[in-house]
Amino acid sequence: MKLSIPVVQTIQNRHSVRTYENRPLKTEDREALLECMKRLENPFGVPVHKYIVDKKLEADGEKLGTYGIIKGASTFLGVSVPNRELAPLAAGYEFENLILYATHRGLGTVWLAATFNRENFASAMGIPQDELFPAISPVGYPAVKRSLTERLMRSAVKAASRKEWNELFYQADFQTPLTKASAGDYAQPLEMVRLAPSARNAQPWRVRKTENAYHFYADYKSGLSDGEKRIKQVDLGIALSHFHQTALECGLTGAFERIPQEDISLPETLHYLMSWRIGKEKGENIHETL
Ligand SMILES: Cc1cc2nc3c(=O)[nH]c(=O)nc-3n(C[C@H](O)[C@H](O)[C@H](O)COP(=O)(O)O)c2cc1C
Repeated sequence: MKLSIPVVQTIQNRHSVRTYENRPLKTEDREALLECMKRLENPFGVPVHKYIVDKKLEADGEKLGTYGIIKGASTFLGVSVPNRELAPLAAGYEFENLILYATHRGLGTVWLAATFNRENFASAMGIPQDELFPAISPVGYPAVKRSLTERLMRSAVKAASRKEWNELFYQADFQTPLTKASAGDYAQPLEMVRLAPSARNAQPWRVRKTENAYHFYADYKSGLSDGEKRIKQVDLGIALSHFHQTALECGLTGAFERIPQEDISLPETLHYLMSWRIGKEKGENIHETL
């Protein structure tokens, strides 16, 4: 399903907001978010649960904490998924669509996977015990001036910069970079992948183009904990939201599908997750072939 917002423009406008005006969310914004949360879906067949909670600043100030990273916000969104294959990918996809929708309404957000008190947010949001709880985001009105903490954080991860095309997108053999010219109609969806947010701005998405598909991989070294691997999958889900929503906006047809990666010996840091088969009918469900 295409979000009913201008996708490319919204992706270009989005940036993380950690400093908010000290005022509650307006009723109309809350209702619009709730309506959007009800309608969201993902193409990976995983049920994704979304949450919204308010923290009463005085009483709960300590409880729903973000280690001093977030200033001024009193409302938070959250996401949980069953603990199964591709679930973090689906969580990344669906929660990013919610983030884009909020951005379009002029609201500030920031993905938080690490710097929040997970236990207390899980209890405030009522996250089921057996579900994965990958992330939350504050939602509110961006303050005019960023806090010092926020400025330091952004500079530590070079938040405003992104890798170039030749570090992210490749032709069939992973040796030859994919140029914008050879990506053709898909240059725009790929450019929107490039602009995606990722944990610590690591930008782990790598894409390989073959004749009739784009294949998506997460790039990370061995030795990551299961939790860290799940965050890489969330990062890829965010990239797939940008790719898919932009493709839909550009009128491109295709479908997500797991395609065996037999034609290639992969660099060992690359972990295959999902492909987009070009030209299949829109809206088709994922067909598991692996
Ligand atoms: C999955 C994910 C987890 C993140 N976790 C945190 C976090 O725990 N704390 C934080 O301050 N920022 C977090 N971020 C925000 C990133 O640092 C930020 O998106 C990145 O630096 C790019 O900056 P931008 O969002 O302004 O484009 C996270 C982002 C993503 C996508």
